[in-house]
Amino acid sequence: MITLGIETSCDETAVALLRDGKEILTNVLYSQVDLHARYGGVVPELASRDHLKKLPYLVEEALKEAGIGWGEVGLVGATYGPGLIGPLVVGVSYAKGLCVALELPFVGVHHLAAHLFAHRLSRPDVPPPFLGLIVSGGHTELVVVRDWDDFHVIGTTRDDAAGEALDKLGRLVGLGYPAGPAIDSLARKGDPAAIPFPRPMLGEGFDMSFAGLKTAAVRWLKDHPHPDLADLCASYLEAIVDVLVDKAIRAARIYELQRIVVVGGVAANSRLREVFPGRAAERGMEVFFPPKELCTDNAAMVAACAHFLFTERGYRDPLTLSPEANLSLDGWGKAAVPEEPDVGG
Ligand code: KG4
Ligand code: ZN
Repeated sequence: MITLGIETSCDETAVALLRDGKEILTNVLYSQVDLHARYGGVVPELASRDHLKKLPYLVEEALKEAGIGWGEVGLVGATYGPGLIGPLVVGVSYAKGLCVALELPFVGVHHLAAHLFAHRLSRPDVPPPFLGLIVSGGHTELVVVRDWDDFHVIGTTRDDAAGEALDKLGRLVGLGYPAGPAIDSLARKGDPAAIPFPRPMLGEGFDMSFAGLKTAAVRWLKDHPHPDLADLCASYLEAIVDVLVDKAIRAARIYELQRIVVVGGVAANSRLREVFPGRAAERGMEVFFPPKELCTDNAAMVAACAHFLFTERGYRDPLTLSPEANLSLDGWGKAAVPEEPDVGG
């Protein structure tokens, strides 16, 4: 069973072919970063148009790279939310078009659930239950994952996502967009204790807040116009890492979960990957990170989620399924797919 996965929720056009829900035959990606770099963030209209331009070629490239013919594809899965509505419309419409033309089943995938499925791809031997920490450019969520279709969101950011906080620091000091990878490498040369940035909402419930951190950095930069960038990045990153690690460990303890799974673009961060396992081990917990290329947006994770819902739950979506920019993860999976699907004739 080969699943074609499509991801276009933000600024990466991604296509993957996955055999039997576990073997990645190809996982190709076209990043739009150069297109958006000069604006310091993603421009939705430009993103939509570029997805439209690149997606058909990327699908062809994926098939060629994997040596797969259309006749061998058995399922199409595409991200239908959350994300930018224009880019989502492009991916979903293209996927539905393929399903009509090739008479294939279609499964709409939640982008954040897909991030969690990156863990299923890398560690199929470590199934739920676990605490999921999803840290990306648009989201920061603590999720109790009881099963692969049983998601309960217990905490989220009240304002900026962790990745967004990093990208905003990057914009302040001219590191380009997205700034996560540059901050990651600069921070390795700096002192994480050099600047005492606040740890917002530490010890208060499971929600988080990172907007104040950017304000603290703006203030600090006013007094220090020629900063040591390595120390600044290391200290700022440390504040984010401290909050994420503390909240996740507390949540896992209270929900009696021994495993924490960290996914999303920020899960590629070296400092987070370095300090988290040790701190969790002090509490008798284990932490898992997918390989870095599966942390950032990709379509293999989308295909993995679609494959699971279709083969193990018998789900498929009607071709009337519409993209949803603000699709919630809470309860998604069981509720996502209608009981008596209309397969669109
Ligand atoms: O999951 P993702 O690829 O896209 C979204 O769904 O948002 O995450 C992108 C975010 C960006 O904010 C980027 O700066 C951050 O992940 N990021 C990193 C690293 N690589 C990407 N943050 C810290 N360290 C990294 N190595
Ligand atoms: Zn993402």
